[in-house]
Amino acid sequence: MFEVLTPLAPDPILGLSVAYNEDSHPQKIDLGVGVYKDEQGNTPILKAVAKAQQKLLASEKSKTYISPQGHQGYIDGMLTLLLSNKSKALLSNRVAAVQAPGGCGALRILAELIARANKEARVWVSDPTWANHIPLIGSAGLAIETYPYFDKDTASINFDAMISTLRQCKKGDVVLLHGCCHNPTGADLTNAQWDEVLQVAKEREFLPFLDVAYLGFGDGLDEDAYGIRLLTDNLPEVLIAASCSKNFGLYRERVGLAAIVTRDTASSRIVQGQIQSVARGIYSMPPSYGGALVDMILNDEQLKHEWVTEVDEMRERMKSLRAMLVDQLAANGADRDFSFVNKQKGMFSFLCITPEQVREIRANHSVYFVESSRVNIAGINQSNVEALAKALVAVVK
Ligand code: LMR
Repeated sequence: MFEVLTPLAPDPILGLSVAYNEDSHPQKIDLGVGVYKDEQGNTPILKAVAKAQQKLLASEKSKTYISPQGHQGYIDGMLTLLLSNKSKALLSNRVAAVQAPGGCGALRILAELIARANKEARVWVSDPTWANHIPLIGSAGLAIETYPYFDKDTASINFDAMISTLRQCKKGDVVLLHGCCHNPTGADLTNAQWDEVLQVAKEREFLPFLDVAYLGFGDGLDEDAYGIRLLTDNLPEVLIAASCSKNFGLYRERVGLAAIVTRDTASSRIVQGQIQSVARGIYSMPPSYGGALVDMILNDEQLKHEWVTEVDEMRERMKSLRAMLVDQLAANGADRDFSFVNKQKGMFSFLCITPEQVREIRANHSVYFVESSRVNIAGINQSNVEALAKALVAVVK
């Protein structure tokens, strides 16, 4: 049967780790997969998570199934974190949600929900967007379109082009927006631009679909939620796929949230049943562990405080790494101004160099990052920044 299948190219992001591990260069640099790393290049378990693990070990009495929607404490904690305790949608019981196996699981549940409601729906994604958005959403059978987002020549958002494309959306179209810390560009909408997106969503009646995988890594947990809260407070329907991989460091535990703001409580009950049925048809119910840990952290004042402090530290460290890279590039004679890297937010930066240059830096200097020119800022440290800057200057000249 399988002789009809053809070999596939490596995944554009995950494939980088395989290539990096096979490289024997002693000073190789990994700026590929979006994983937070400390100064030593390790991805430690957050202290708040380690404490929650101890509590869970002492308190968990059974490994029986959890409920189909996941841990309710996790869902409530996450919804409050994302939407705030003043959320109109939460206060009026208009939100359906399930714990999902990672942000990917959440995206897929929501794509399947869209397909159940309207097989003809078009999903608009930013150009560029995260490499896995198109396969994840497209596999639900939905048509994908792109809207202009980032202009490599000016290293900034082409907001006029974005808005004029969104103005052409039809009622029932779905527009995927990155809640914060845009992946892959690191270029985020300003609050005023979010306000304009809201106006266009109202006019055109498109459905916003928010992907929120880096909350807290931009300007702060509340600051990064501006767009999420604006849209969910002012529109009848919004989709949200959130991930705890990065800001809780729970990558391998696969913990995410699929949430839908609905028109009214009755619709929210129907949608709740539908997303649970989507999940039942794919993987039945979410794994418990990661959700149980986040539930403990978000619902314990002390643990939450410790976690917020750790998120703040990761964010501030990534900001300082941006500055360090920009300084090193200038000090090593870059003939291009890379200061736009300091304005980008979150874990990623788009260096705005060509795929040929990315391949050259990998072949000649063993520096690994995505061909689009996306680098994982957290992979930079004091000991590799100079070599990185020199390699970049060598290929950009
Ligand atoms: C990334 O964008 O590097 C991460 O979200 C990891 C992944 O699954 O692609």
